[in-house]
Amino acid sequence: MSTLQLPDIGLRPGNSRTLDDIMQVMEEAFDPDFGEAWSRAQCQAILGRDGVWSTLAWVGNRVAGFALARLIVDEGELLLLGVRPCFRRMGVGRLLLRHTGAEAAERGATKLHLEVRDGNSAGELYESEGFLPIGRRRDYYRSRNHGTCDAITLALPLGRRKYDHPKLG
Ligand SMILES: CC(C)(COP(=O)(O)OP(=O)(O)OC[C@H]1O[C@@H](n2cnc3c(N)ncnc32)[C@H](O)[C@@H]1OP(=O)(O)O)[C@@H](O)C(=O)NCCC(=O)NCCS
Repeated sequence: MSTLQLPDIGLRPGNSRTLDDIMQVMEEAFDPDFGEAWSRAQCQAILGRDGVWSTLAWVGNRVAGFALARLIVDEGELLLLGVRPCFRRMGVGRLLLRHTGAEAAERGATKLHLEVRDGNSAGELYESEGFLPIGRRRDYYRSRNHGTCDAITLALPLGRRKYDHPKLG
């Protein structure tokens, strides 16, 4: 069971003023081989759009992870979830995921969608939170070292959430 009750994980909204923190996580968290990390310009552009929000996780005064999501009509989409390697397996990713689901529901979403590379260990986190596979895109990801990988689309019906909204602190 994940250590969600760690007292020193704090959540705060991310925005264009916290772009340095988001990019620090981005550079450390994502495997460059699959080109999953977004550029600073991409992040800056999307953070200004309607329906887009980001959440940063802090352990003490150190940024540990972030989530980036958007609402399209009544569907939430988790665009990115990343945790710096030195803060992994402490419950940071799960807390960010739960907060994003709760935030999406508050904004009117009935489902939270996401896409994950087949074989990514993040899939275990999503499965344990109740996400269900709804689609597969063959050979969606291309890497120099690992060939191609499918993308799996997952959805979480938000009405079936079994947790409270973790508050921003
Ligand atoms: C996926 C990711 C966000 C998880 O962050 P995290 O803070 O380590 O996750 P948690 O500590 O909350 O782990 C929750 C559960 O997820 C599963 N999990 C997480 N990392 C795992 C791994 N490497 N192997 C197997 N299971 C894993 C476990 O079930 C874990 O629970 P446990 O620690 O009680 O066994 C992090 O590994 C990451 O940033 N990965 C690279 C970026 C990425 O692929 N993001 C997702 C696609 S956008």
